[in-house]
Amino acid sequence: MENFTLNNGAKIPSIGVGVWRIDDAEIAYNTIELALSLGYRHIDTAMIYGNEEAVGKAIKDSGIAREEIFLTTKLWNDDQRSGRVMEAIDASLERLGMDYVDLYLVHWPVKETYVSVWKKMEEVYKSGKAKVIGVSNYQPHHLDDLLQVAEVVPAVNQIECNPYLSQEAVIEYCKGKGIYPEAWGPLGAGKTDLLIDPVLTGIAKVHGKSAAQVVLRWNLQRGVIVIPKSVHEARLIENLNAIDFTLTADQMKQISNLDKNLRLGSHPDNFDF
Ligand SMILES: NC(=O)c1ccc[n+]([C@@H]2O[C@H](COP(=O)([O-])OP(=O)(O)OC[C@H]3O[C@@H](n4cnc5c(N)ncnc54)[C@H](OP(=O)(O)O)[C@@H]3O)[C@@H](O)[C@H]2O)c1
Repeated sequence: MENFTLNNGAKIPSIGVGVWRIDDAEIAYNTIELALSLGYRHIDTAMIYGNEEAVGKAIKDSGIAREEIFLTTKLWNDDQRSGRVMEAIDASLERLGMDYVDLYLVHWPVKETYVSVWKKMEEVYKSGKAKVIGVSNYQPHHLDDLLQVAEVVPAVNQIECNPYLSQEAVIEYCKGKGIYPEAWGPLGAGKTDLLIDPVLTGIAKVHGKSAAQVVLRWNLQRGVIVIPKSVHEARLIENLNAIDFTLTADQMKQISNLDKNLRLGSHPDNFDF
């Protein structure tokens, strides 16, 4: 498994498994148990996904040393609004049955608090309860404001990103500031025809790979972390095997040209939760 190095020196496996919408505790537990047995060492959860307890238990029961696993969870918007950031990470750690997470992200840039919350995130970082802190769904203008007050530069910005929403401007901005871009919904969240796009299936055929692997590879090759979600063994294996081939510069360009600014999730400047 390839690692990327974050701005404080921490290593993050370039491919993780996401667990959004795995609401059933047993399915969440089984998915993480399976993913770890297949070689995943990076898991992306959040308080709001409601499965931190199952994820933590599966990690513990795996017998794999805690330091070999990179675990992300996120600060939900209500806790951001109330300013209860240390309390929120403590509650997440309690559910996870852990004394630290590898990465703690501000889940969304809540308009009133997306800057001030960062000082509280820095306290979490200094407490050692998160080895790395970052943000999610931040646009460059949010980061510009945050960086005015930051002592610790966010290590990661997790954003919606796939070939139909290539996010080139945000990614370039982040790279310029030492912030690692990370793609959520990297496969189009199962909501689009992305994986049957003829450009992608054509490139996949050339490499003897699937369109999903090509899509993940495209992001990895441009230095973007990916966290595809699946509850199925064959797909978990497929997604993890997006590493053993290289797209040509022309193929990278063809994929980037598929961008149509198609956002499946909410816009970071306009969300109501
Ligand atoms: N920060 C944020 O605001 C935010 C927002 C959304 C998501 N996330 C994180 O990002 C993770 C990934 O995003 P996502 O779950 O929305 O979408 P995704 O990973 O792009 O897509 C998941 C969907 O694709 C299917 N799938 C998985 N592998 C496949 C393959 N190889 N071939 C065909 N279909 C495949 C899955 O179905 P099966 O499970 O049935 O295989 C599921 O329906 C989430 O789980 C979560 O951890 C973060």
